This record gives sequence, structure tokens and C-alpha cells, in this order.
Amino acid sequence: MRRAPYSSASTLMFDRGWNVDDKGPSIWDTFCHEGGRLVFEGQSGDVTCNSYELWEEDLRCIRQLGLTHYRLSLSWSRLLPEGITRHVNQKGLRYYNKVINDLVASDVLPMVTLYHFDLPQALQDQGGWKSPEIAAIFDSYARFCFESFGDRVKLWITLNEPYVCAKLGHEDGIFAPGVKEPGMAAYLVGHNMLRGHARAWHSYNVLYRAKQGGSVSLAINSDWAEPLDPASPDDTAATERYLAFTLGWFAWPLFVTGDYPEVMRSSIEVRSKELGYQEGSRLPRFSKDEPSLLGTADFFALNYYTSRRVKPGECCPGVLGLKSDQDAEGVVDPSWPVCGVSWLAVVPDGLRKLLKYIKDTFNNPAVYITENGFSQVGPVDMEDVQRCGFYHDIIQEIARALREDGVDVRGYFAWSLLDNFEWADGFSVRFGLFHVDFSRPERPRTAYRSGREYAGIISKYRSQTMVNI
Ligand code: BGC
Repeated sequence: MRRAPYSSASTLMFDRGWNVDDKGPSIWDTFCHEGGRLVFEGQSGDVTCNSYELWEEDLRCIRQLGLTHYRLSLSWSRLLPEGITRHVNQKGLRYYNKVINDLVASDVLPMVTLYHFDLPQALQDQGGWKSPEIAAIFDSYARFCFESFGDRVKLWITLNEPYVCAKLGHEDGIFAPGVKEPGMAAYLVGHNMLRGHARAWHSYNVLYRAKQGGSVSLAINSDWAEPLDPASPDDTAATERYLAFTLGWFAWPLFVTGDYPEVMRSSIEVRSKELGYQEGSRLPRFSKDEPSLLGTADFFALNYYTSRRVKPGECCPGVLGLKSDQDAEGVVDPSWPVCGVSWLAVVPDGLRKLLKYIKDTFNNPAVYITENGFSQVGPVDMEDVQRCGFYHDIIQEIARALREDGVDVRGYFAWSLLDNFEWADGFSVRFGLFHVDFSRPERPRTAYRSGREYAGIISKYRSQTMVNI
């Protein structure tokens, strides 16, 4: 009998007190403070929902929803202000210990993410993810976390969405650290993130797995993609490249070959040749002397938000950049509703198709959907019926993937428990199941209608799948 997926919500907890209690600054603190104009209305993450001081309020929300699991992200620079283990912030350590203890005491299993976009600024000053040394530094941070919390934490994510860190942070420059080096830095950053992940997984495997018995993975974000015209070979080939440059970039090394997808490497090399770059100078090669990547994911961690129909790109060949390497353009089908932010076309059955693709391509892994959600912009709507409908639909699609397609889905995490600081969109975009009033110092949390319904949906679904599967 297959176990039912756990339905749970997650939120990010790096917020508040960007500089209190010995916390070191992160690249997002710097990005907001120095590059304020890049974030919506110059907002910052200095105080967001203040989970640092209001954790017990969060716990109340978690219990109100009846969650079985909760995904949270640690702030590296809250634990290690300079990024290295020489200097530990004892108050930060105490804080996360309390959070984890409270969850376990409430029968809620924590899934802990070690890195969620916010590199300690001290490490950025030494080259950040572009520097080869970062892999070993990340590994020692990961070991510190396994050692400190691994007796209670059994589900680990090393890195959240390396694609977003690489592309938005180092190609487009619209996320911290705001680097704009098209066609170069993103590949190097992605490479070093993978190297760091592999080291951390091997450390866990050798030093902690036997006594702690947990699982470790990397959260990969991907759209579902299908050809704009299914009969067109060009659209089909473009779709293959689209998926290779997002999902494949990080999943192939872990699940298939230990290396990047062949179609990704060859597309980059063709473009490099045209532009006069040496072979291998943009997308690095993995060294045989380093810990191997293949097999370094104990489950597939998927962040899914949206879908695209794909055709060949319109980018001119002479341009250096990821877009031109990928040569694929994703368009939103006019029948798909767009919620809040422009990129978020709501396509629940895209999740089912993507899950099936993952099953077939990556040898039927156990899958956790580690993020998925629906946003609101503009005037707050506490009676958010559309989001209610969305959660009904998405849970249905997961049930179908499980029952009809035989995908080994182990869990689902809605994004997000609370409205939060939504990166470059600041507070203008709300993903929470609970509304947070950011204009008041107490940051009151109030369940949206979707929060109340979500609690009902997951409890009904949990009992149904237990009976039927
Ligand atoms: C990130 C979240 C973010 C969400 C919605 C994901 O890329 O992991 O931190 O809030 O998408 O944009």
C-alpha cells in the first residue's frame, strides 16, 4: 500500500531582524539596501512577517491548518554570521532549535532547507557562488546543520531552486546579488551549487545517515512544457531544450548521468563556437576527482508553479546569453487564467503531466512537491474563492498522478503559510494561506478563506487516500 501524500504548507523564515542578535547580513539585505530601486517600491526584507519574534503565532497557524509537515528555510547568516563555522550565533541556534522542537512536539515533521537565495554577504565578498571554494564552505555549513538538528530533522533540502539563483541572480541581475553576466556566470554558479550539493549529500551519507536516518535532496523548479504545435518538429525540439535548460540542468546530473543533459551541452557549444568561445569555457565539466553527483538525491523535490507552450526562440544568434543558447520561447495559452503575477498562468493539470514526465525520465523516484501556490496582487481579498478552487484542483491532479499514473508522490507543500516578502516583488504579491498585515508592528496573521478551506481539503484528501490506495 502506498502512503498518502502529506499535505502541508511552508514558509520562509529568514525574515526579521536582518541585523539583530548577531545575525550577519545576507546578499538580499545588501540588494534591498543598496539596490532598493530593484525591489518593488524600494521595499526591504528587514522586517517581514517577523517570524523571528512571532514564531509561536506561526505555530498556531500550522496547528490550525492541521499540517503534518512544515517546510522551513534556515538563514545561513543567522546561524553563521560570516558564513563559516568559526563564528556561531548562539541565539540563532537557539531560535531554530526551539522552532524544530516545537514542531516535533506538535507532531509536525519539519523539512528543512539549508539555502534559500540568501548567501551570507561575507561569502559574496569572496566571490560567492562563482568561486570554486564555495562548494567546500557550503558543505561545512551543511555538516554544522546536520550535526545541530539532524537528530530531529529527517527531511533535508540542500539548495532551493539553483536555477533561480543562477538565472535571476547572475544572468538577469534581478535577484540578489544582482550580477548581470549573460551566458557566463549562471552556468558557473549552477555548477558550483551542484558541487556544493554533492559534497553535502556525501557528508550526510557517510557521517550522519546511519545514526540519523534522514533523506537529503535538492529542490528543482520547473514549468511543465509542451510544444506550441504538437505536430511541429521544431516546436517539439524547442520543448526538449526548454525542459533541458530548466529541469534537466539540475536533475540530469543527480538522476540520470552525473552530467548535464546532452542537448543542453551541445546547444551551448554550438553557440560558443559561433561566438568564438572555447569549448567547455562556458558550461563547466565535472571533475572526476570530486564527489560524484549521480545518485545524490534521496527523493525528487519539485517546485512547480506554471506551464508553457513552446516554440523556437526569437533571439538573434549573435547574442551571448542563456536565452540564445536555449533557443526556446514559452508562451501562455490564452485559455489559462493568470493569477496575480504575470508569469503565473494557473495550470493544475500541468503538474500531473510534469509528475508523469519525472516518473518516466528519472526512473520513478519518490517525489515531494516542495512548493506550489497561487498569488494575489492588488487590494487584499480575504474571500479568495479563486485560490480555494486552485487548491481543490491541484490536490485532485496529485490524486490522479498517484492513482492513475502510478507516480510515487510522498508529499505536497503549499507555498506559503504566510504572506511574505516576495523577493523583487516586495510585499505586492501575496502567496499566503494566512494574510499578514505588514502595516502593523504586531504583524497579525488572519486565515484567508483559502486557508480555512485548505485545512478541510487536506484532511478529507488524507483520509480518502488512506482508504482508497
Ligand atoms: C521561491 C519562493 C517564492 C516563490 C514564488 C519560488 O521561486 O522558492 O521563495 O516566493 O517561488 O515566487
